Amino acid sequence: MGQEVEQILVLDFGSQYTKLIAKAVRELSVYSEIVPYDITAREIERLGPKGLILSGGPASVYAKNSPRPDRGIYKLGIPILGICYGMQLLAQDLGGRVESVRKREYGLARLDIDDGKLFQGLEPREPVWMSHGDAIVKLPPEFITIARSEGLPIAAIRHQKKEIYGIQFHPEVAHTLKGREILKNFLFEICGIRERWDPGDIVEERIDSLRAQLKGAKCIIGVSGGVDSATAAVLAHRAIGERLIPIYIDTGLMRAGEGERVQKVFNRLGLKLHYVEVHQDFFKALEGVVDPEAKRRRIGELFIKVFEREARRLERGRGKIEYLVQGTIYSDVIESAGARGAMRIKSHHNVGGLPEHLNFKLVEPLREFFKDEVRRIAERLGLPQEIIGEQPFPGPGLAVRILGEVTPDRVKVLQAADAILREELAQVKERPWQYFAVLLPIRSVAILGDERGYGQVVAIRTVDSVDGMTADWSKLPYDVLERSSSRITNEVPGVTRVVYDITSKPPGTIEWE
Ligand code: XMP
Repeated sequence: MGQEVEQILVLDFGSQYTKLIAKAVRELSVYSEIVPYDITAREIERLGPKGLILSGGPASVYAKNSPRPDRGIYKLGIPILGICYGMQLLAQDLGGRVESVRKREYGLARLDIDDGKLFQGLEPREPVWMSHGDAIVKLPPEFITIARSEGLPIAAIRHQKKEIYGIQFHPEVAHTLKGREILKNFLFEICGIRERWDPGDIVEERIDSLRAQLKGAKCIIGVSGGVDSATAAVLAHRAIGERLIPIYIDTGLMRAGEGERVQKVFNRLGLKLHYVEVHQDFFKALEGVVDPEAKRRRIGELFIKVFEREARRLERGRGKIEYLVQGTIYSDVIESAGARGAMRIKSHHNVGGLPEHLNFKLVEPLREFFKDEVRRIAERLGLPQEIIGEQPFPGPGLAVRILGEVTPDRVKVLQAADAILREELAQVKERPWQYFAVLLPIRSVAILGDERGYGQVVAIRTVDSVDGMTADWSKLPYDVLERSSSRITNEVPGVTRVVYDITSKPPGTIEWE
């Protein structure tokens, strides 16, 4: 985001909570971005943030190769809040001493706090979430202690003249009840943020900047029917109209009716899809393949090949396509950034994604947004609920839900079973986060009329989750399970048994392959 937006930079020292900090700040309607810990003071100055947050991290500040910030950041006059490792860093950098303590503190602790700007509105004794093995044993000059816990005499500090603060506990996790208050105080009282940021507000600005960037150029985007690519496509289409060609590759591995549904939705939005039907190519590539990784690889490779071929074909009548628009979102950027504490920003490509060597310039208009923010942008753009509220769907499609070989017949069986499950769940008020059917590679004995037969087995998989990283199996009402099971065995030829997957993640993954 440009300099015009008031923003907070979160320097990432590798904590698992870094993303939560950025998210918590944005939920307070302030734009925040995660940057690598070694960003230079000069670059920070150029970006002009209203405040810096130094995240936690797994290292010890006194360890040899611990990640360290540019020391120039303390002289910029920009307010700083160090959290956990971030606090120990600034304490050490500014002349204090940090040591490992014998009594480690993990979990909830009560904090005795002083008042002052950072803790405004808090009770004198607050429950907070601690997790550390190191502690400040000597304050840096000009710093004072502003909070202490039973096990930790220096639990929060502040500079007496500058706006530099450190807290040992984590305000971004839910256990720290008043964590939001503390962050709010930092943002509005200490950094003096005035504006309220809303992701929906960027729509017009983003369309204008895309129009400027893509002027005169032709662009393509691969759409899947998911909210990210659809939102990116609509944004770009509003900017450059028909010069954007959305490509939909119908692999034959999508859910029943998916192709037509996506086509209809895009039509309604005024986008003409370049629709490529390549079922046979995909089935051929998957012939005899049973290994899950091999399936993913083959699908990924063929997808890229088809996409490339179509792009070249489109160029023939129209001239060079210069840009590839992608629906990369912020969690893709963060998750593919690689090693802890050494974030390198690059694009994320999973199966169904596209590599960079395609010779297009990449445009990623949603790169700095979290999923729920993309949904807000999609709403502003008028995308229909069926896309905005769509459940996640894996890039390799039904292939990873068909255990064993993927054949056209087996895809048909799974599509039919899955459609029934979706119909039944459409009647439920509170739907799980994700739900689908899986076709197993085994057969089981069944009674068909008066005879014993040998039929196929379908599993029902439904989970509740926030981000797909962990998940609970969802407890569907028995009547929904009963109706789904009896309809699947009655209506899908060949399926004679339905089982219910009651595994959480971990140890199970959400998908079966
Ligand atoms: P697992 O099976 O790893 O899945 O627990 C976590 C979430 O990710 C989805 N998933 C994928 N999404 N490309 C995607 O875009 C993929 O290759 C892929 N594989 C799994 C899965 O549906 C679940 O929501």
